[in-house]
Amino acid sequence: MIKLAPSILSADFSHLGQDVMECEKAGAELLHIDVMDGMFVPSISFGMPVIRAIRPLSSMTFDVHMMVQDPERYVEEIARCGADIITVHAEACRHLDSCIQKIHSLGRKAGIAIDPATPVSAVKYELYQADMILVMTVNPGFGGQKYLSEMNTKILKIREMIRESGRDIDLEVDGGINPATVEEAVHSGANVLVCGSGVFNKKASIGENIEIMTALARKAAGEIAENDGNANVCENEENR
Ligand code: DX5
Ligand code: ZN
Repeated sequence: MIKLAPSILSADFSHLGQDVMECEKAGAELLHIDVMDGMFVPSISFGMPVIRAIRPLSSMTFDVHMMVQDPERYVEEIARCGADIITVHAEACRHLDSCIQKIHSLGRKAGIAIDPATPVSAVKYELYQADMILVMTVNPGFGGQKYLSEMNTKILKIREMIRESGRDIDLEVDGGINPATVEEAVHSGANVLVCGSGVFNKKASIGENIEIMTALARKAAGEIAENDGNANVCENEENR
């Protein structure tokens, strides 16, 4: 099922609360929250106090993307602040398997993110327990970058691996998702679409942008259904 996840990294922090509530009002199911440590990625964004402050304003699923080195140090506190899904980078964890176990022991869903240069094998042996795989379609650290279409084959491969696992695992894409790129991401097999500058760009209201993006994504997913399911589309794409 298609879900849009507005990324507050591009929100107006002078009225973050209002922006968050506007996302929910427009029907967003997930709120994507980018935590950056200045180590794993060059930039520093925000952390626990901000998540804690916005938690009472919304019942959206808080999808916390930790761009943090050795994230197992913080998952407990991030959970306490109100995260529903905690996503860690495969590249940033010394012991990925135990980090995912720790997130589950806190009663939260666990996601695994991989950078553009990281092969699909990095998540292969974690599909038995991951709730979500996040394919970065830009290099992590900043909003407003260009979608790397080269990642489409990776999305396709992971969708196929998920299908083979027989488990219900979400496949999220993050970076450069906008009206021009959302369709190729969905056609490749993504079902959770992070969207930062595409939502908070002031060209239109947050609500209008969410509406446009959701409609385009659902339409693309409908095309998949017309083609007799996702697996068939994967095969077709691979043969191109
Ligand atoms: C980038 C972050 C993204 C970012 C996406 O490292 O992980 O979530 O907010 O921004 P856009 O949608 O503008 O590429
Ligand atoms: Zn993100």
